[in-house]
Amino acid sequence: MKQGMPLGLSVLMIMLILFCPSSAFSEEEPVKSVLLNSGYEMPVIGLGTWTLDNDSAEASTYAALKCGMRLIDTARYYGCEVGVGRGLRRAIDDGIVTRAEVFITSKIMPSDYDRASRGIDDSLRDLNVDYVDLMLIHQPGWNDEAVYRALEQAVRDGKVRSIGISNYYTREAVEEVLSYAEIVPAVIQNENHLYYQNTALQEYVCQYGIVIESWYPFGGRGHTGEHFGNETVVGIARHHHKTPAQVILRWQLQAGYIAIPGSSNPEHIAENYDVFDFELSISEMEQLRQLDRHKRYENW
Ligand SMILES: NC(=O)c1ccc[n+]([C@@H]2O[C@H](COP(=O)([O-])OP(=O)(O)OC[C@H]3O[C@@H](n4cnc5c(N)ncnc54)[C@H](OP(=O)(O)O)[C@@H]3O)[C@@H](O)[C@H]2O)c1
Repeated sequence: MKQGMPLGLSVLMIMLILFCPSSAFSEEEPVKSVLLNSGYEMPVIGLGTWTLDNDSAEASTYAALKCGMRLIDTARYYGCEVGVGRGLRRAIDDGIVTRAEVFITSKIMPSDYDRASRGIDDSLRDLNVDYVDLMLIHQPGWNDEAVYRALEQAVRDGKVRSIGISNYYTREAVEEVLSYAEIVPAVIQNENHLYYQNTALQEYVCQYGIVIESWYPFGGRGHTGEHFGNETVVGIARHHHKTPAQVILRWQLQAGYIAIPGSSNPEHIAENYDVFDFELSISEMEQLRQLDRHKRYENW
């Protein structure tokens, strides 16, 4: 992983080629991370921790790191940063990972927008880390620019490595951020699944080396059956001797997205990381692309 400062233009060009969905994730060796425009590598599959309490977040974080996952997504608002921090610390103490090998994401919520710097410090304290790899603005708000400035200052202070935005769905919304950003966001984390595909946004932000990260990769709790039971997904899963969850995650990766399936079940977590030994064909990718219904489950 990068330890230095932002990349030069030539390296940025290489990154753009890597990030464009058609070329990403198509090499012979399994691609388990992408190079962000900040110069840091980010794993393409990780653990989501929304709805987990501190105990289950600790157990899930530990299970994720033990099975090879290196990306953990959390937020102060989820109330489980302490648990994530404990799981991380336990995995470090047990020799499973070093801090540098793990990519931790947290978020600043609207309730903290008027105290963004302190919100970042609170997350670092609860996670028990010196820095987070990625800090996101959770959603557009009345003072995005001031929050973004606080994130840029946190990068300069070494508390945050990469900056991202979340729930920015339109070109206009992203353009507004770009109009004041001194550091271009590295990631946009959006609701993004088979029934709501961020294709147009992805095509637009690719030129900035911005990667789309998917929340609700399975549609979220209460909706997973719609995705796992979809007959196209089930048919492809049978063909590859994989589960519907694995086919969906494989589609996410081959489409150029980063996915953070949430789980409190160690078997599911291991299953979700076991997606690097098969490949969907162009025809299968197209069948899955056709499932897009522009259907969102949430409206924030
Ligand atoms: N930025 C935002 O606005 C935002 C919003 C929502 C979520 N997020 C992030 O995105 C993450 C993902 O979203 P999510 O967790 O809400 O929804 P999700 O990942 O689409 O679905 C989670 C559900 O899938 C189940 N599941 C996971 N792996 C499975 C498997 N292999 N087989 C069967 N079931 C499986 C989980 O149950 P088990 O626990 O039983 O495995 C859980 O019920 C969140 O955890 C959070 O970190 C961000």
